[in-house]
Amino acid sequence: MKMSWLEDALADIRNKGLYRELRTIRSAQAPRITMDGRELIHLSSNDYLGLTTHPKVKNAAIDAVEKYGTGAGAARFTSGNTDLTDSLEEKIARFKNTEAAMVFSTGYMTNLGVISALMDKGDLILSDELNHASIIDGCRLSRAEVNVYPHRDITCIDKILGRSTHNKKLIVTDGVFSMDGDIAPLPGIKEVAEKHDAMVMVDDAHATGVLGKHRRGTADHCNVNVDINMGTLSKALASMGGYVAGSQELIDFLRNRARSFIYTTALPPSAVAGAKAALDVIVKDDPAAKLWQNVSLYNKGLKDMGFSIDSQTQIIPLMTGETGRTLDVAAELERAGVLALGIRPPTVPKGQGRIRTSLMATHSKMDILDALDAIRGVKEKLGM
Ligand SMILES: Cc1ncc(COP(=O)(O)O)c(C=O)c1O
Repeated sequence: MKMSWLEDALADIRNKGLYRELRTIRSAQAPRITMDGRELIHLSSNDYLGLTTHPKVKNAAIDAVEKYGTGAGAARFTSGNTDLTDSLEEKIARFKNTEAAMVFSTGYMTNLGVISALMDKGDLILSDELNHASIIDGCRLSRAEVNVYPHRDITCIDKILGRSTHNKKLIVTDGVFSMDGDIAPLPGIKEVAEKHDAMVMVDDAHATGVLGKHRRGTADHCNVNVDINMGTLSKALASMGGYVAGSQELIDFLRNRARSFIYTTALPPSAVAGAKAALDVIVKDDPAAKLWQNVSLYNKGLKDMGFSIDSQTQIIPLMTGETGRTLDVAAELERAGVLALGIRPPTVPKGQGRIRTSLMATHSKMDILDALDAIRGVKEKLGM
């Protein structure tokens, strides 16, 4: 069969300026990377603590390959579970200060598995309008009624829950919003959740290892406890995979019901060992302290240039608006020596395109000052 509709569909994507092309990096995730034969300052990495190249993390992954091989070989409930994976889950539970934790193959699969296992027809999910796509997809898969509330709007959550006659109720939110860098108002969310007997789930993909006194994430930062702590191993933990942490009962239930946990091959040993070693580095050396210094330096430079900064974290968007303009600014930044990707719909709402810049703990002062110089040049040329 000739799938002629593909041609039209692709033309439509291209006409809207939404066609995506893969870019190829020829070096490790580092403050400066090599792309198309040029060195660029990397302002687009989620390796926020720079641990993907940390010697202890790399060596732990190499040692795990030597001992366990390259792949897990099977799903966790068949023959793919190892003492290495058990010990990572224990370490995550200790780090998050919860009774138990479990890991999934990706953060995306964690949200799919957790939300669809916990919620069902007759239940209600309240989801922030700026939540990550994996939360949106988990909600869809659950078959529960989904009510998308305006960004960080606790009054609206309160109103919707006040009217609800559903069986179970869940409020789910990014801890740090992935495209805006602002933080969910967890104390207020907790308060309305308790008032209406709803569960709270936080996605700490961008907060784990970064936010809070113990760097546990958003709940640590806000000094509250939540029912379901979700996060990834793929960003500050420098590896691959996702986790959920909470009560022993929650984890026992999810192990038995989360389909994206049960019906897939376990994480490779190198990823498990890498995440474990990254957690050790976070607890012992606190690399996030340097990240926060970098955030201050960068934000000061941006504010001096006239940018207004709403972000509270290491993710700092520079708003560009329409898609064409977003792509022009990203291309100009690249010409000026900075990799900072333009983000377009549907990742962000229409007309709210942006350059999503993010900092790493391993950026030097020189990296940041050079990046600011490049941004200043582009701002003067194109206006931002
Ligand atoms: C908020 C949020 N949740 C979940 C994910 C998915 O995590 P992963 O990349 O580990 O699948 C991401 C990242 O891409 C994210 O930004």
